Amino acid sequence: MARDELFVTTKVWTENLGSGRVLPSLRESLQRLGLERVDLTLIHWPSPNDEIPVAQYLGELLEAKRQGLTAAIGVSNFTIAHLRQAIEAVGVDEIATNQVEIHPLLQNRKLVAFARQQGIHLTAYMPLAYGKVLAEPEIQRIAAAHGASPAQVALAWSLQQGYTVIPSSTKRENLAANLAAAELRLSTEDMAAIETLDRGERVANPGFAPRWD
Ligand SMILES: NC(=O)c1ccc[n+]([C@@H]2O[C@H](COP(=O)([O-])OP(=O)(O)OC[C@H]3O[C@@H](n4cnc5c(N)ncnc54)[C@H](OP(=O)(O)O)[C@@H]3O)[C@@H](O)[C@H]2O)c1
Repeated sequence: MARDELFVTTKVWTENLGSGRVLPSLRESLQRLGLERVDLTLIHWPSPNDEIPVAQYLGELLEAKRQGLTAAIGVSNFTIAHLRQAIEAVGVDEIATNQVEIHPLLQNRKLVAFARQQGIHLTAYMPLAYGKVLAEPEIQRIAAAHGASPAQVALAWSLQQGYTVIPSSTKRENLAANLAAAELRLSTEDMAAIETLDRGERVANPGFAPRWD
């Protein structure tokens, strides 16, 4: 496969956010990947307890972009407060995305509204809630009505809201079915029914996570 057919993203871990550490960390990732440059580099989580200021590590990440190590930069697991600091530090146009957990059981409405208002693109990670979404009767009902799978319904729901979705699978047939979700069109009624499933159920919530919106 040609390099330009792949979109490669890497992330900088929390231990590498300190002064002078972001660039070497990215260089090490590039070396391990065997690449001179990635398409996107994200700050994986904000610094635990905000020990290191957003402006410091995002400033260094922007420098990495200027040096050509990454085509774009972005953030992940950023709250509204962190996004405000990010916008102030590097400007909204430099923030390619905020990659956050979004699926029908955790719709993240407050953060979504803020990101939309600011023009920050969202990437929905764990879009199947690691499989939990697939067991929802309402999702299964909508899937049956469309002759689709529950996973496809969950992914189409995210795509129709304009999010980038990044489901993972170890199975070729699931990967193919997930790609085909882009062709499924959910009705306004389907979208409204899925909206009622939000119960703030977060899967990725480590001890160092920020205070969520
Ligand atoms: N930025 C962050 O902090 C962060 C945190 C968590 C995850 N992520 C990213 O989000 C992406 C996805 O997250 P994830 O893998 O944790 O959760 P996920 O995509 O919601 O769920 C993956 C699970 O769903 C199953 N699955 C996938 N497609 C399926 C299908 N069509 N039918 C039935 N089961 C299906 C997979 O099993 P099989 O392998 O058997 O198909 C696997 O068990 C990853 O790229 C990950 O790096 C980012």
